[in-house]
Amino acid sequence: MTRLDRDEWSSLESVSHADSTRPVIYPPLPMIDLRSDTVTQPTAEMRAAIARTPVGDDVLGDDPTVNQLEDTVAALLGKEAAVYMPSGTMTNQVALRTHTEPGDEIILESQAHIYFYEAGGPAALSGVMCKLIEGQRGIFTAADLQKALRPWNEHYPRTKLVCLENTHNRGGGSIFPLTDIQEIAAVCRDNDLRLHLDGARFWNACVATGHSEATYAAPFDTVSVCFSKGLGAPVGSALAGPKDLMQRARRFRKMFGGGMRQAGIIAAGALYALKHHRDRLADDHANAQRLAAGLQQIDGIAIALEEVETNLVYFHTPESIPATTLATQLAELGVGVLPTGANTLRAVTNLMVSQADIDEALQAISSAMKTCQGQQASDAVAVGVARY
Ligand SMILES: Cc1ncc(COP(=O)(O)O)c(C=O)c1O
Repeated sequence: MTRLDRDEWSSLESVSHADSTRPVIYPPLPMIDLRSDTVTQPTAEMRAAIARTPVGDDVLGDDPTVNQLEDTVAALLGKEAAVYMPSGTMTNQVALRTHTEPGDEIILESQAHIYFYEAGGPAALSGVMCKLIEGQRGIFTAADLQKALRPWNEHYPRTKLVCLENTHNRGGGSIFPLTDIQEIAAVCRDNDLRLHLDGARFWNACVATGHSEATYAAPFDTVSVCFSKGLGAPVGSALAGPKDLMQRARRFRKMFGGGMRQAGIIAAGALYALKHHRDRLADDHANAQRLAAGLQQIDGIAIALEEVETNLVYFHTPESIPATTLATQLAELGVGVLPTGANTLRAVTNLMVSQADIDEALQAISSAMKTCQGQQASDAVAVGVARY
């Protein structure tokens, strides 16, 4: 896998972060980059596939590579049609707009990406209200949904859509069990509600459970999948569902600015990834288990091993060591992790990270923790001296 060395990274970094409107998110120097599965570089083979792909004007419907990708995704998910878009945020937001009208209500889990991380899109782009269900690591049941439903009353907003997330990002990469989904879908059918899946990491859920994509997607009206997460393609997501809804989705994709022209250039990376990188997600899951087991051995780190189900590993520092301090220290050692709370960090195994890298990262985390603990001890002495 191509990974930049320190000098190459530094020269790029000085260029890319010169513009202050861009975020600088830990670390400045990722050698083993565990911040996300979105950080992957296209492989040489993927670049070659991109270079030779035929393209056309996709807004006019004649990009053969985009058309092939959309047909492939629709067939894989067992849906009538699919629409390619630039991002998972756009596929989710277009889905919301497709299923609802302003003033409607959608029901989703309180930590859902759609609610938490999509810049207020449901309110801004669809004018919908969000009703939240408190889940367990992102997962809720049909009984929870039943409780959240409103009886008919002209004073209430009209509830139209339920959204699930599989795997669940803020839930720690947790897997939504198929039986729970089927029961939720039955409640939706009985109450004339549509069901949408945010499947940014749906491929991980399929590999981890052994369910086929079509089986796992069957209970949903629409499914959003990403190619730019664990699959390692540079750009893009797709929304799949019935033809009439996908026609409506195409219109909203255009309205939201997602109509792209020679998009086959990026769709080719997605097609390559679908074909070659799906099965290897099992390696990421094994690496996540190895990382979690190693983290559990490090003095001061807290982690719940049973909560690591796929490629996301969340772990915790003691209250006295802020997550940002550990992340900064690790950045110095060339390991990228993401602080997601005051004492919580996220590490995501991915295409660019080998088993040997995991062992190296664990050594770095152990050493960074010792440094943080040492600083803490010397701070305590300094405070002591100041006091007396
Ligand atoms: C669960 C989930 N849904 C949607 C998205 C949005 O994807 P994108 O970054 O392509 O907009 C992400 C991004 O990480 C995600 O984790």
